[in-house]
Amino acid sequence: MNDLTPNDAAALFKLEKFDRIACLTLDNPPVNATSNAVRAGLKSYAEMLDQDASVDAVVLLCAGRTFIAGGDVKEFDLPPQEPALPDVVMRIETAAKPWIAAIHGAALGGGLEIAMGCRFRVATETAKLGLPEVNLGLIPGASGTVRTPRLAGMDMAIQLAVSGKPITAQAALEAGLIDGIIGADLQTEALAFARKVLAEPLPLATLQRPNPRQTDVYWHEAAAKAPNEGHAAHQSALACLRFGSEHEPEAALAHERETFLTLRSSFEARALRHVFLAERAAPKPRALRDTTPRALQHCGVIGGGTMGAGIAAACLLSGLQVTLIERGPEAAQAGLNNVQTILNGALKRGKLTPEAYEQRMAALSCGADYAALQPCDLVIEAVFEDLAVKQGVFRKLTEVCGPETVLATNTSYLDPSLIVAGLPHPERFIGLHFFSPAHVMKLLEIVPTGQTSRDVLATGFALGKRLGKIPIQAGICEGFIGNRILKRYRAEAETLVRQGVPIADIDAAMRAFGFRMGPFEAQDLGGLDIAYLQREAARNSGATVERALGDILVEAGRKGQKTQGGWYDYDAGDRTPKPSEAVAELLNAQITAGPALTAEAIAERLVGAMAAEGQAILDEGIAQTASDIDLVKVHGYGFPRWKGGPMFYAANAEVS
Ligand code: NAI
Repeated sequence: MNDLTPNDAAALFKLEKFDRIACLTLDNPPVNATSNAVRAGLKSYAEMLDQDASVDAVVLLCAGRTFIAGGDVKEFDLPPQEPALPDVVMRIETAAKPWIAAIHGAALGGGLEIAMGCRFRVATETAKLGLPEVNLGLIPGASGTVRTPRLAGMDMAIQLAVSGKPITAQAALEAGLIDGIIGADLQTEALAFARKVLAEPLPLATLQRPNPRQTDVYWHEAAAKAPNEGHAAHQSALACLRFGSEHEPEAALAHERETFLTLRSSFEARALRHVFLAERAAPKPRALRDTTPRALQHCGVIGGGTMGAGIAAACLLSGLQVTLIERGPEAAQAGLNNVQTILNGALKRGKLTPEAYEQRMAALSCGADYAALQPCDLVIEAVFEDLAVKQGVFRKLTEVCGPETVLATNTSYLDPSLIVAGLPHPERFIGLHFFSPAHVMKLLEIVPTGQTSRDVLATGFALGKRLGKIPIQAGICEGFIGNRILKRYRAEAETLVRQGVPIADIDAAMRAFGFRMGPFEAQDLGGLDIAYLQREAARNSGATVERALGDILVEAGRKGQKTQGGWYDYDAGDRTPKPSEAVAELLNAQITAGPALTAEAIAERLVGAMAAEGQAILDEGIAQTASDIDLVKVHGYGFPRWKGGPMFYAANAEVS
């Protein structure tokens, strides 16, 4: 953006003067991000106000819902543009007049760094302050690792820059990161603060303050505590904090910037940006931009088992009223207990206040009479995975619910259009495929039938957004997007076993790649019998389904951890997988020795299989975009974020 004019920058700011205090208000919606124009504007205002003899101090505040809450996503992948943020922060810090940052909403990343260049910082009580760069595979790139410890001490600097989690204004005040908490009338309160501090001697500028050296033991302990995900940002942030305390500010700033720029172009940071941008786009698909969703206040859930209870809890937690229907009074009571257990967990973890807990429980009613569903705007079915049972449920639903009620199935594998075939008002049926545990997992596959109307589809997305999910549209095929790719992944893992790759090596390779568990450990945890029964059902209905290695294990009674043996052996009460002689014997006849594979080669094979299936899914129109497939895998199946998802990985990773 080299063609930036002074007017571009000026249009983003409003300058007012109150006696001898200048008040500079930035208005760059939605989050006052530090775009090129914002940086240029701040720099030129600092220069101009330095020359203005009628001004003694500058209050910097922001219009809208927040202070500067980070960088401009539109500039994420562009080469760095002048003026660079570190120079802007330095220009503010070295201004002839003291600057005072008045923070509301959030001061994040570059926003907090700008505030730290000011001589004073005040914030409203509800404001949050943070350095979240590690979440994008970066470190603070404009002095965060150099200025934060000088204001708030090294412990707090580590907390902010290494964890990436924001802190409250109160915590910031206690640490010395801000100088005061002000009321909500930002401008008036900030001006009052300015007048008060101008009457006193000025404190040292941030970089003039000490940043004491810490011991080797201190850094060793901090490194051990820092998250050790598969990307370098957390440890790099720590290393920069250390460098900053052992070198002069100038060298420290240069070192931080260099590290920032190196990380910025790393594969992991690009992958994390890809996932971040895809997540932001997911809840508002282009095709539904002009479609108004139906209103949602009251949600019905059929079935109070694993999924139904989780879905009911997710709805309650988002403020919806919920009616849960089970097969009889006892099952309804059990369903209620299941939901209560989940809400109780939220209460214990402090996610719900006791009052909110009472309110949410009061918004839940459970019973066995379908007539109670009559007032619902949306009903989600989560009964047994059985076509006839589900068809029976939907027949009853169409009898009690009006045509405006959206009727959804949570089926994992059945064809939603078969479940509702022949029922009236076909436009209101849809698949809403949640993941277990449904109140925790972010993924929601939204599966329209051929006849689902646009407003019903939009309602699915609106529900997803309301529940804090990542809603992804999927077409109809066996397993939709996620489970279909999972099946291919598992099949490829079995192929490797047939080629003589040890089971434990495959799991270890996928853990090294970034999954919490490898494919066989995960099957042992979930149970091998579910997929086995599906294959059996398909065979019984006449389909040709190849015999899987998993079939041999299930038929030998090895269903996973629950039977103390699946792909691995387990000691009673111990979840540690141990390579199994019995499995080796059972599978021996299926295995032909092949070449040894490195962990990297194993991961490439398995991720390659996922990407190939993803490509088929795209070609068939089952998924709308490759990013959607990546989000499904990241949010539903533990694919490491910093690898970007299978499609991004296949297209961008430099495979050795
Ligand atoms: P579950 O067996 O834990 O719960 C099913 C519940 O439905 C039982 O409580 C049962 O009493 C009730 N039910 C059965 N027929 C009913 C009827 N006619 N009226 C009212 N209630 C009835 O099963 P789960 O695991 O919750 O699965 C439910 C659905 O969710 C299935 O379609 C499954 O494929 C799907 N699903 C399951 C996932 C999982 O990880 N368990 C993940 C995503 C989807």
